[in-house]
Order: sequence, then C-alpha cells, then structure tokens
Amino acid sequence: MFTPQGPSFRELAVQALSSVEHGYDLLATKFDATPFRTSDRVLTAVTDTLRPLGPFATGLDLCCGTGAGLSVLEEVCTDRVTGIDFSAGMLEEARQAHPTATLIRADALTLPFTPSFDLAVSFGAFGHFLPRDRPRLFTQLHASLRPGGLLAFPQPAPARVGSRDYWTLWSFDAVMRVRNALWRPKFVMYYRTFRLADVVRDLRETGFEVTLHPMEGLGFREDGSPVCRLVAARKV
Ligand SMILES: C[S@@+](CC[C@H](N)C(=O)[O-])C[C@H]1O[C@@H](n2cnc3c(N)ncnc32)[C@H](O)[C@@H]1O
Repeated sequence: MFTPQGPSFRELAVQALSSVEHGYDLLATKFDATPFRTSDRVLTAVTDTLRPLGPFATGLDLCCGTGAGLSVLEEVCTDRVTGIDFSAGMLEEARQAHPTATLIRADALTLPFTPSFDLAVSFGAFGHFLPRDRPRLFTQLHASLRPGGLLAFPQPAPARVGSRDYWTLWSFDAVMRVRNALWRPKFVMYYRTFRLADVVRDLRETGFEVTLHPMEGLGFREDGSPVCRLVAARKV
C-alpha cells in the first residue's frame, strides 16, 4: 500500500480521522496509487460483462472518485457520460483524466437528475453507506434511470470464513466501528455490510428486476462459483 507515489501512513491516518468528503479531498492527488482505486482488471471484466446487456446511450458513474468507472462508461456508452461525487478534490482529478465527461458535485443520497440515464455503475463506494441508507440510495438511482435502464456493479464473492481475507476485512470493520464510536466526524466505510442477499432484496423492493452475471474474466473458485458477479438491476 505504501508505494513512493501513494500516501504515507501519516497521510492515511489524517484522512481516516476526517469526514468521508474531506478525507477524499485530502487523498485525491494520490488516490490512484492506492489499492482503493478500482483496478483496471476489474474494470475490464465489468466492461466485458456489460456489453451484451446493452446498448447504452447515456451513462452515470455514482461516487466516481478519480474516474475509474468513467472509463467503463466511455467504452460501453455511445452518448454523454456523467460522474457524480461529493469530493471536490476527487472530481478535479477525474476532470483531468476524463475531459469530455460531465462531472457534478453532489451527494449520492440526493441526486439532482431526472430519469435520463440508460446505465448507472458504481465501484468501490457502497461501503460508505449504512444498510439503513441503502433503500434511499437505490431509490435515487432508480429515479435517475430511464424506464428499462440498468444499474450495474461488481459484487465479489464473500471471503471464506477463517481465511486471511476474511480476517483482514473483519479487522478493518472492527477498527472503523471503534473509531466511529470514539471520534467525530464519523468516517463510514465498512466492507462486510453489503451482503448480496440483502442488496438483491433492497433492489427488488425499490422496483428493480435483478439478474446476476459471472464476471468470467476474474475466474472461478474451487467450487465453481465466480470470484465476482455483476449485479444487473433493470428498472421496470
Ligand atoms: C473508494 S472511492 C471509489 C472511487 C472510484 N469509484 C473507484 O472505484 O476508484 C469512494 C468514493 O465515493 C465518494 N463518496 C462517498 N460517499 C459519497 C456520497 N454520499 N455522495 C457522493 N460521493 C460519495 C467519495 O468521495 C470517493 O470518491
């Protein structure tokens, strides 16, 4: 994590003691050198899995950060591509990397859109929303999509109980819970609260039809299940 281009331990600690919005402002110029930026491997696998679900004209990247998901939209959409994020610093980085995209500073829980998008994607950001805020978040996305529009995002298989990944994510969430009990402003970021079954239920209750698609480019586990699925939620 601590490459010469990336943030120092001290910079990450200062970020983690800030609010989510200010924390990302502080991290923005070095964000792409952290493992928090969605990898090109995942972006390519999403692009490949999305293509047959199109065509798409307009696209929205929710919580776009420095613009990882905008590259996916630029590949699969034939018309206007838009990113929203509430961090001005992250948007500035996205603006430099994606000069033709429309970039809007907004809170994902109060999106400023009419039903105008054929495709909405989001990467690496759902951990910033508490489960109780998820129905509101999905309602905002539903209202931003045209009838027949698609919300799509990758959902990795859960780490096996007892594995190293399992304990890493468990420990991260535990540290964040302690931090948020003791410190203000809160920094909401939990890895283990976005569970597939709950998410599919919330999407269906919002009015989406949900299908799951193996992201073949990321491979399969020993039991034959995909390492990562694309959740595709269609507005009916
Ligand atoms: C881990 S970064 C992911 C960035 C990018 N999507 C990627 O995959 O590389 C999470 C992003 O979500 C944004 N974010 C978190 N909560 C938000 C909210 N309520 N409204 C808008 N943006 C939010 C942060 O500012 C940050 O840019």
